[in-house]
Amino acid sequence: MEIRPLSGSGGAEILGVDIARGLSNAIFADIHRAFLDYGVIFFRDQPFDLDAQVAFARHFGDIDQHPIVKGMEDRPDVIKIHKRAGESATFGVGWHSDNSYMVEPSLGSVLYGDVIPPFGGDTVFAFQTRAYERLSSGMKKLLDGLVAIHGAGPAFSAPTTKEKWEGKSTLAYQMSDAMSAEVEHPVVRTHPETGRKALYVNPMFTLRLKDMTEAEARPLLEFLYVHAAREEFTCRFRWTKGAIAVWDNRAVMHNALDDYEAYERVMYRVTVKGDKPR
Ligand code: SIN
Repeated sequence: MEIRPLSGSGGAEILGVDIARGLSNAIFADIHRAFLDYGVIFFRDQPFDLDAQVAFARHFGDIDQHPIVKGMEDRPDVIKIHKRAGESATFGVGWHSDNSYMVEPSLGSVLYGDVIPPFGGDTVFAFQTRAYERLSSGMKKLLDGLVAIHGAGPAFSAPTTKEKWEGKSTLAYQMSDAMSAEVEHPVVRTHPETGRKALYVNPMFTLRLKDMTEAEARPLLEFLYVHAAREEFTCRFRWTKGAIAVWDNRAVMHNALDDYEAYERVMYRVTVKGDKPR
């Protein structure tokens, strides 16, 4: 197994692993170490095998079922993210950490690329441990005590989601309590495995800051969103057919770029359960 870092802040490609063949405990321990060290890891040229993808995801933890996006009919633990040619991409577009509107947001996701546009459709990752570490001591002090409110409502009721609610799209939504729930998370979370602190707000699901007026909170959140996605804190993944990405939502935000309207893209996502951010 060879690990090739992709940027100065995080992300690494792992070579020499065939996920569908099953992983020994020793190999998985190395993969898990790389996952924690790099925040997101990538594998290329893996065969299409949903059973193997789910089994691989299970090494990281129990599988999470999305509260709003429907899984595949015969595989509720897998979301098929299918964008047809001629449509805009609308899933995962914009910076976010998966399901941060849940009391226990997802630990991470395992995403398989099956149909890849000839260009475009990359996914960008921003490393929130690095973003936190690069803040001034004064800003860290301010943020360390703050709490943010997260909710799924605005993101999932945007005009672009209409067809998904009506069942007219390749991706379908189902009504759930998560649509109206609001949950509190610290603005800075400590990673339960590495002990590193990371920024934990995102423009898709963070609604406001607790105990602050909108006028006070908005400029601070806007600053954090710009800071958190600074180019030097990111890496960008160019998908190829058969590639897999595994990211750690406790340390990384991601953004699926919507720049390939003329082309189809098909991905399969399996998500791993997480714990309450502290
Ligand atoms: C997601 O946010 O899970 C989607 C990522 C992608 O399609 O690249």
